[in-house]
Amino acid sequence: MARQVLQMHDNVFSNRPASIAITYLTYDRADMAFANYGPFWRQMRKLCVMKLFSRKRAESWASVRDEVDATLPAASDKSGEPLNIGELVINLTKNIIFRAAFGSQGHEDQHEFIGILQEFSKLFGAFNIGDFIPWLSRSWMDMHGINKRLKAARGAVDRFIDKIIDEHLANPKVADAEDADMVNDMLAFLEDSPAGKGGEGGDLQGNLKLTRDNIKAIIMDVMFGGTETVASTIEWAMAELMRNQEDLKRVQQELTDVVGLDRKVQESDLDKLPHFKRAKKENLRLHPPIPLLLHETAQDCEVVGYSIPKKSRVMINVWAIGRDKASWKDAETFWPSRFGPDGECAGVDFRGNYFELLPFGSGRRSCPGLQLGMYALELAMAQLMHCFDRSLPDCEGHVA
Ligand code: HEM
Repeated sequence: MARQVLQMHDNVFSNRPASIAITYLTYDRADMAFANYGPFWRQMRKLCVMKLFSRKRAESWASVRDEVDATLPAASDKSGEPLNIGELVINLTKNIIFRAAFGSQGHEDQHEFIGILQEFSKLFGAFNIGDFIPWLSRSWMDMHGINKRLKAARGAVDRFIDKIIDEHLANPKVADAEDADMVNDMLAFLEDSPAGKGGEGGDLQGNLKLTRDNIKAIIMDVMFGGTETVASTIEWAMAELMRNQEDLKRVQQELTDVVGLDRKVQESDLDKLPHFKRAKKENLRLHPPIPLLLHETAQDCEVVGYSIPKKSRVMINVWAIGRDKASWKDAETFWPSRFGPDGECAGVDFRGNYFELLPFGSGRRSCPGLQLGMYALELAMAQLMHCFDRSLPDCEGHVA
């Protein structure tokens, strides 16, 4: 069924459903993640892929390297003491994405921004009766106080990102310059901006113009899409490996053989660590950070004999698919060797070609941050396991 929705009928199922909170917080869907499929989304996606996620955008990759080097040594300072991996890695991914998005400007405001993200997260998931009975969403009703919180949250984002945009406008940099960040790159497309003149568009068709709201909404997409997904995946991977000591030892032996004990893990090492890669894949099978993919139909259609009306919401349960006993032997067991050359799942990848394993989705709306996310995930995981023996605590709470 996932193949039917994400591949065979991808063109019909590529819209996103949006609640009142999502619509309001994304400036009326001025972003990419919640825009409906169509020319606007296509242009935005191309812009993000070219300017942020592409391997050619060296600054995004440098952010990962530098922040892993800056943040993870804290783990070594705590040798012999309890270490809260969850806190460490959310801090790391926040720093990476913050730097890729805003450059070094505004680093001191990061703490405030995390508070905003957390409130957005809660509001996105909050039950709002107005989504089901629209007349109850009028502002004077506001039965659960959601409208008030939505206004406060968007006000906070406005203040925060407007300041950053103004700073960037006051110190313009040529888009694509070595020290340009994501905001510089996007300002080249801002309507009425001096930076926007000159048709800097590369492969982008026509004269793409962005409003401030577009830019703010895309920044939020990237902050949301890239922070918790990567952090929770690293945390799960560490927990699984600590629970499965044999696999942990194998991964550590690989690291010792390839990297040795006298230097840090580098990007060029990562492809020489096959069991490490299998463990990462197995972890994504069991713990996809986005367990439900939310799609909506753009028109009436028929799928395997069922009539699906226009604007139907479809949720693809990636978590359940990854644990389906019909597709996976010992589905609940963490068993990286299943992906080895002699394993039953040799060759299965997570890039959207195998519908049994969909942590990044598949098709048009699949994750554009896959490469960047994988790089951050692999480098951080490898660094955390290299040179250290860790074990789970006896009691709940910290991992030592
Ligand atoms: C472990 C890392 C990550 C995982 C597992 C992941 C997973 C996903 C999934 C499942 C989707 C939805 C696919 C669908 O609806 O069919 C998605 C979309 C998206 N992701 Fe990721 N993601 C990760 C990292 C990132 C990073 C690092 C960024 C940005 C820096 C990012 C940005 C986005 C955006 C903007 C979308 C919306 C795309 C669209 O609607 O066209 N993700 N991601």
